Amino acid sequence: MAPQRPIIIDCDPGQDDAVALLVALGSSELDIIGITAVAGNVPLKLTETNARKVCELANRTEIKVFAGHDAPLERPLVTAEDVHGRTGLDGPDLPEPTMKLQEAHATAFIINSLREHPARSVTLCPLGPLTNIAAAIEAAPDIISRIEEIVLMGGANFERGNVTPAAEFNIYVDPQAADIVFSSGVPITVMSLDVTHQALTTTERIAAFRSLGNPAGLATAEMMEFFARFDSEKYGTAGAPLHDPCVIAYLLQPDLFSGKMVNVEIETESELTMGMTVVDWWNVTNRPANAKFISTVDDDGYFNLLTERIGLL
Ligand code: BDR
Ligand code: CA
Repeated sequence: MAPQRPIIIDCDPGQDDAVALLVALGSSELDIIGITAVAGNVPLKLTETNARKVCELANRTEIKVFAGHDAPLERPLVTAEDVHGRTGLDGPDLPEPTMKLQEAHATAFIINSLREHPARSVTLCPLGPLTNIAAAIEAAPDIISRIEEIVLMGGANFERGNVTPAAEFNIYVDPQAADIVFSSGVPITVMSLDVTHQALTTTERIAAFRSLGNPAGLATAEMMEFFARFDSEKYGTAGAPLHDPCVIAYLLQPDLFSGKMVNVEIETESELTMGMTVVDWWNVTNRPANAKFISTVDDDGYFNLLTERIGLL
């Protein structure tokens, strides 16, 4: 068997974060060395609890879950209960977790893990606001050269914004953190709304999760049904963009995706466009490329992969 790829998933579950966690938990190519929670879709207490609920749903109580920052670096927390429900994981009825939260702070765990593992072996997978990752970089700049890659969900170019006309939720919630990450020099791959808006749930795709017949498949179907109602109404589509699992799918099957290296800068000053990812798609500046910006996905291949992996749980 090929060596497993060590990853840290930093998340704010969130139904789509939860599906990303399930897909990763069902994938033997990945070694999840820890899951770190951040405030985002709902407050931190709920996101860390939800991460543990998902591990228990997958019978993976040995996974280490850490709580991180409960607010963005500089701005007040903005949450998204309108999308995700009061708990962040509305839909299935998942029991309160019995597995313990780790004592260390998420940021300390990220720093220590990167220092303990061989340089350029650990991939960071942020699925929420970038607060924990930026705080780790600020506190311990030596980790910058030790990160293999950051594959994140956030931002938008042609699709513009989903929480404001200009900004995507994860970047909008903590633009200062995003600025630190995008300026860090770490290799970054970006799963933005441009690609996640091609990865829409449908009645058939949700039915395929349900028909897996395992608890994770059933919970995924219930989460997607809840999650889809908001976006179907908003966008007039049959389903909802299944954002965060794009990050895990890219690690598993990068040939499902295409994109190009571009310069991405983060708006941190104008309130009107706060958190906008300013993407130099046509290379009209001389600013150096700092991210691989993904723009297409084979959506059938994507949903087949997610269904297959959740079926293994
Ligand atoms: C992102 O925002 C959150 O609501 C989702 O979990 C996803 O990470 C999409 O803009
Ligand atoms: Ca998320």
